[in-house]
Amino acid sequence: MATSDVLVLGAGVAGLSFAIKLAEKRPDLKIKVLTKTVETESNTKYAQGGVAAVWDEDRDNFNLHIDDTLDAGDGLCDEEIVKIVVEEGPKRVKEIIEWGTRFDRESDSDAYDLGREGGHSANRILHYKDLTGWEIQRSILEKADTLENIEILEHYFAVDLITQHHLGYNVTRVTPGIECYGAYALNKTTNEIETLLAKVTVLATGGAGQVYKNTTNPVIATGDGIAMVYRAKGRIENMEFVQFHPTALYNPAGENPSFLVSEAVRGFGGILKDPNGVEFMHKYDERKSLAPRDIVARAIDNEMKIHGAEFMYLDCTHLDKDKFISHFPTIYNKCISIGIDPMKDMIPVVPACHYMCGGIMVDELGQTSINRLYACGECTCTGLHGANRLASNSLLEALVFGNRIAYEVAEKIDQYSIKEGIPNWNAEGTIEPNELVLITQSMKELKEVMSSYVGIVRSNVRLKRASDRLYLLYQETENLYASTTLSPQLAELRNLITIAYLVTRSASMRRESRGLHYTTDYPDKNPFVEYSVL
Ligand code: FAD
Ligand code: SIN
Repeated sequence: MATSDVLVLGAGVAGLSFAIKLAEKRPDLKIKVLTKTVETESNTKYAQGGVAAVWDEDRDNFNLHIDDTLDAGDGLCDEEIVKIVVEEGPKRVKEIIEWGTRFDRESDSDAYDLGREGGHSANRILHYKDLTGWEIQRSILEKADTLENIEILEHYFAVDLITQHHLGYNVTRVTPGIECYGAYALNKTTNEIETLLAKVTVLATGGAGQVYKNTTNPVIATGDGIAMVYRAKGRIENMEFVQFHPTALYNPAGENPSFLVSEAVRGFGGILKDPNGVEFMHKYDERKSLAPRDIVARAIDNEMKIHGAEFMYLDCTHLDKDKFISHFPTIYNKCISIGIDPMKDMIPVVPACHYMCGGIMVDELGQTSINRLYACGECTCTGLHGANRLASNSLLEALVFGNRIAYEVAEKIDQYSIKEGIPNWNAEGTIEPNELVLITQSMKELKEVMSSYVGIVRSNVRLKRASDRLYLLYQETENLYASTTLSPQLAELRNLITIAYLVTRSASMRRESRGLHYTTDYPDKNPFVEYSVL
């Protein structure tokens, strides 16, 4: 049994920015940060386009950024939260610059080079080449290393949140006053499940893209935090709004994750074309290739069906070679490595699962429906994204909420103490698994079901098929969980089945088409449908 004042699950931009802010405010607090693999691995690391923030006040302002976010969110954003994130955003970005994050500047001046992405009406994306996330992860880890009261534990896999349930109480989804006392975590080095108690726990476990066959998310993105909160009887919302990025590199070899071709490439002048080299986006939206993601991803999906093609093209052949390489060195090199020269050949692209707009329900201070449990970053639903996230608003949201939770925890933590009487993990009656194939095959089936039936275009029949098959996978996996020793693979499968259930169930509840959720049975918007809370 180990204790700390604060337990943070996740070391991406959300978890680390929270930990840094709190550590600076309250040097007296001991903060433990867990990461399930190495500290450098996260969704954050892969972010390409950048961070959206109002920077150039001559050409941009808060109202424009607010309007763009609301427009992308298709009527489901929480306007108060949008205002908070947009207005606090630039201060948080200045802070990470002070911590050492580098952003590209214009070649002829000291001003930041502000990029453009789909749905933005102004240039407001701060970026570091096409490696913005890598640069942010590097700099915040270095900053965290300078703070003595932050301890980062690598290869610690959080398995479950500890609540009154573990003290023998019957906790249900309607039980008032559920509290979190920390988490059970599998130490992957010793294979022991440890009890980590804390006065306050903060979830920052990121997204769940691995629930689909093709995703831009790294293999760690298995929705563990969302699944843990659901198991602990906390509230989850808006899970039907899964964002598919329009332009992942076509990936016939089944590379996992799929490589992203940043939206910033379209902001730079790249144009979507069909297999005959003809533009098509004007048929779908006047903003053409720079329309919000839900529109562009559905348009590509539709064109693929019309042409019977496995991908569409992104044409960059008309762009300046030196500038392209300087802005997008990683994308250029990746294309070259597979025999595509973006300056001579069109790049084959296809939509891939990219971002979870729904997640753990939190209020404007990051408080979840469970006391002493906060959450920030991609695992949450704050109300910022509504039915569709505006590009590059995610890193911003993580920074703003990490900071807000730090203030709140600094104030409140002294009223809590470490809970006594929590039992250790009980693995009695379980045996070592001898057939890993039971897990790997179920994982394949799960991804297949979600990609075939709960993808960009949905219908009642497809959703029903998905839930029938998911139920079978659920039963088999729960049996395995009850009888075998817990491994990270089994825990991830179990979590992804929960995510798949939450997405499918929320999609079935939404009898309309809005933002990222499109169903052929209800193709129009229904003004009376609100957030879907589970
Ligand atoms: P993450 O960065 O994913 O961190 C999650 C952390 O939780 C990791 O440390 C992980 O180890 C840990 N963790 C997870 N489960 C457990 C567990 N069970 N136990 C212990 N630890 C656990 N957004 C933008 O705003 N701009 C962009 O340009 C952009 N580009 C993107 C490009 C790509 C290819 C991808 C995949 C995403 C992109 N996004 C972008 C989205 C953005 O990167 C993420 O939403 C954001 O980084 C999420 O940060 P996070 O801190 O919430 O989670
Ligand atoms: C991209 O660079 O296209 C990704 C940006 C984002 O997901 O916000």
